[in-house]
Amino acid sequence: MWTALIVFFVFGLTSGIVSASEPKNLPSYLTTCKKDAPDFDACCLSSARAGLPNLVNGDKKYNIPNFKPLKVDKVEVNSGTLKLLIEDMDLWGLDQADIKHLKIDLKNNKVKIDFHCPQIKILGKYQMDGKINLLALKGSGDVNITLEQPDISFSINFKVVKRGDYDYMQVQDDNEVNFSMQKLHIHFDNLFNGNEQLAKTTNEFLNKEWKSVVEDLSPTVKTTINTITVSIINGFATKIPYQFLFP
Ligand SMILES: *[C@@H]1O[C@H](CO)[C@@H](O)[C@H](O)[C@H]1NC(C)=O
Ligand SMILES: *[C@@H]1O[C@H](CO)[C@@H](O)[C@H](O)[C@H]1NC(C)=O
Repeated sequence: MWTALIVFFVFGLTSGIVSASEPKNLPSYLTTCKKDAPDFDACCLSSARAGLPNLVNGDKKYNIPNFKPLKVDKVEVNSGTLKLLIEDMDLWGLDQADIKHLKIDLKNNKVKIDFHCPQIKILGKYQMDGKINLLALKGSGDVNITLEQPDISFSINFKVVKRGDYDYMQVQDDNEVNFSMQKLHIHFDNLFNGNEQLAKTTNEFLNKEWKSVVEDLSPTVKTTINTITVSIINGFATKIPYQFLFP
């Protein structure tokens, strides 16, 4: 069994998710889409696409973190065979996301979204001990994980919960995440506490066998992507009543 712990602080979230705040309308850079409009799906997609360049700059009032880069304090993974901790993680490239498909299904409380990025670069400080693909790994230092041409798909389930006079959207944990990429570059600095020859061969092996590395780490990566996404959407959704999101 593997477990994952992700500590993620949305910048400006200190006011607290459950604390009552003035209900807000959508920020001006997002177009409101009427739920009964015949072009609802197209409206949502074009609103998200047009609003993205603003969204990625972050917006404290709406609990939206800055995506240049997106900062994650800590990701801790324990798969039984591998213990991996990444701290001070910077995710670069999400601001370049191209939303390929967006379907907000208000009848079944589901959101389906597919997007593509030219590149996602993950930089941070790692501590690792265990095995990936039967390969023993141990060390601590800088890590650089770069995904070329990643595609990410989500199927997100939400509930509508009442708080005060309004309803709010609340994303659940049981979402489906798929991802794929054209190539993965991995570099763990200071593997085996400075045994350079072994570190070099190991990094080379991880890069050569990147497809099976991805397969091995897939459940963990999915959980990580899901946790971060749920946290961001819920941070945002706590600020805007459902009635204002989809009038
Ligand atoms: C991270 O790895 C990518 C791909 O190998 C490389 O282009 C980039 O320069 C590296 N960045 C850092 C900060 O090491
Ligand atoms: C994920 O992939 C599976 C298998 O290909 C597919 O059935 C499912 O619809 C996909 N889910 C999403 C959210 O793309």
